[in-house]
Amino acid sequence: MEIKLVKQENLSGDASRADQGFGCVATEQPPQFDPHTETQAAYDFFAETGFVVLANCLNTEEVAHLNEFYDRTQREFPERWGIREKPKPHHRGQGLIYSQPLLDHPELDPYTQHARSHPVVSEILGGEENVRFSEFNFREAPQNAGVGAMNFHHDAVRPDRLIRKPYMPVDWVCAVHYLTDVTDKTPAFCVVPGSNKFGSLQEAYEALGDTYQEVPIRGKAGTCVLYDTATFHTRFDGDGIEGRRTWHQYYARGGFLKSSLPTSDRYVRPPTPVLTDWNVFPERLALHEDPEKRRFFSHWNTAQCEWAASGFSDEVRNSMPRGKE
Ligand SMILES: [Fe+2]
Repeated sequence: MEIKLVKQENLSGDASRADQGFGCVATEQPPQFDPHTETQAAYDFFAETGFVVLANCLNTEEVAHLNEFYDRTQREFPERWGIREKPKPHHRGQGLIYSQPLLDHPELDPYTQHARSHPVVSEILGGEENVRFSEFNFREAPQNAGVGAMNFHHDAVRPDRLIRKPYMPVDWVCAVHYLTDVTDKTPAFCVVPGSNKFGSLQEAYEALGDTYQEVPIRGKAGTCVLYDTATFHTRFDGDGIEGRRTWHQYYARGGFLKSSLPTSDRYVRPPTPVLTDWNVFPERLALHEDPEKRRFFSHWNTAQCEWAASGFSDEVRNSMPRGKE
């Protein structure tokens, strides 16, 4: 499948500026897929590019509910959002983040396996039985925040991705849901299609040649972008005046999977490791009575193990850096 995007003149081929990209900003938008009627096409696009845009993933009521959640919790619990005189270190430069809202808000549980995006997420991770939860957070680039010039980066990666065959399924996939309209005036999630197959943005730039693109993704509230965490991405600045709200959910791949490496045909990919050493799941999800839900929330880190062993005590939770009530 070919991505129909028009490439602008390369403004900077300077390797020292690679983290800020190479100025090859696409002037056309990527296609948007309906995740239910175009599941296979959406999967094919993702398998080729390392990202896909899904249309209308949240309905009007869900967008309104989540925006109301932002307004309410920013008013009632500003510290959880990092709204304070001295922002927490992990909040600096990234706008506002509510790191682990599932801990205290069961009203969010239905969003964790959202029916709209689920068919495509399942395909990307190799089947419904292989979909695992990793992390859920809310972010906001507030109005009048100025421009931040975030660098291109990838999130967590596994080294075997560069040599294993087949590449798919991915190790982690992240879903970015737009909760406000994203236009050319607002910050936009921006990806380099096909860059997930390379170790650095410079390598991607050199190898992809004329097909190298930096694609800021615009869409109305409710749009969802799925990306392989190995795909290079950034927050593309808007005018510094308009803001943006996004819900980010990371999924991991579960189960053992036959694969091959150049040195071995009998390579077995284990379940993807945990994404962080601090992200924890509340008891109602980690020990859910439904075995399929328990499997979904089964990728525990050592902090989770200690919290579970304590009987999910508040004392243990409050000792965790981002766990405080
Ligand atoms: Fe990232």
